[in-house]
Amino acid sequence: MTSQILTFARGGTPVKKVIKLDTFLVDAVKFSLMGTRVVPKFSIERNHYPVEVDPTQLNHVVNNIIANAIQAMPEGGAVDISAGNCSGVTLRKRIVPETKGKHFVKISLADFGNGIPEEFLDKVFDPYFSTKRKGGGLGLAICHSIIRKHSGYIDVESSVEGGTAFHIYLPASDKNISLESEEKEMAIHKGTGNILVMDDDELVGGVLKHFLINLGYVPEIVYDGKDALKKYEEVHGSDKSFDAVILDLTVPGGMGGLECLRKLKELDPKVKGIVVSGYSNDQVLSDYEKFGFKGMVAKPFTIETVSNEIKKVLKA
Ligand SMILES: Nc1ncnc2c1ncn2[C@@H]1O[C@H](COP(=O)(O)OP(=O)(O)OP(=O)(O)O)[C@@H](O)[C@H]1O
Ligand SMILES: [Mg+2]
Repeated sequence: MTSQILTFARGGTPVKKVIKLDTFLVDAVKFSLMGTRVVPKFSIERNHYPVEVDPTQLNHVVNNIIANAIQAMPEGGAVDISAGNCSGVTLRKRIVPETKGKHFVKISLADFGNGIPEEFLDKVFDPYFSTKRKGGGLGLAICHSIIRKHSGYIDVESSVEGGTAFHIYLPASDKNISLESEEKEMAIHKGTGNILVMDDDELVGGVLKHFLINLGYVPEIVYDGKDALKKYEEVHGSDKSFDAVILDLTVPGGMGGLECLRKLKELDPKVKGIVVSGYSNDQVLSDYEKFGFKGMVAKPFTIETVSNEIKKVLKA
């Protein structure tokens, strides 16, 4: 049962891609910290080995660890993020024999909040272990599961006064970064058209608006599915009608992306929907076409990925 939950939550078999962790880490951490009083400090080795990872799943790991760091520092503070090459893996101060002499990239994420008492250190990766009133205790269990699926290791180091650090070891890849796919993804595609954005998070809405204006589109931002329906209906059939809609999947206490798309389809069967979500474990993201969307953007996104997805959807 637990292992089924974890498989589901981590998102199944990783879809791996060879990447360098530098920009990936910076984006993922900054996104997780948006709207909080926690500030990141990065020290990432320039020439670290490439790693082969599922970016969506690894992003999920970073999200869960940073969420814990934020919760450990309710008044705000700093997180230190470092990454670099290392040889062999040390878990709870012991070298893992089968990793001796092998190349890894080590990522550390450290906070300075109240740490974990010694007697709990062995439990934090257990499913359902939580010391929080509203904690599910799945965050770190999912991280552990994802990292193991990547043939990596995760370790925790903590002292009640000094704070907590998580160390992630990912095997170095000997494959080359596929330049072609990198370049394709890095290119920014400008375009024209009216785009409706629905996201309950004002910050995300603001970021998307900024991106869209820069890309040449005319954006309209709303914060709930109901408002999206209203806006869409208002201009439907006119020269101001929307060429695509970007919908956040989950809107706590409001109409989310799935229901919104269903209703939009009743109004306009040709509506072009792009789903956005920060929950990479969600089935709608991995199977967006089955759910009626024409495109998908996983948070954290970059202007490149947003521009690519819109271009693809508008051409379709
Ligand atoms: N950065 C941290 N500082 C202090 N304690 C931590 C930290 N990260 C994890 N812990 C401890 O480990 C426990 C398990 O963490 P985990 O993320 O798995 O679950 P949770 O945060 O309690 O709930 P959930 O992540 O499901 O919302 C936490 O309840 C807390 O006791
Ligand atoms: Mg947690």
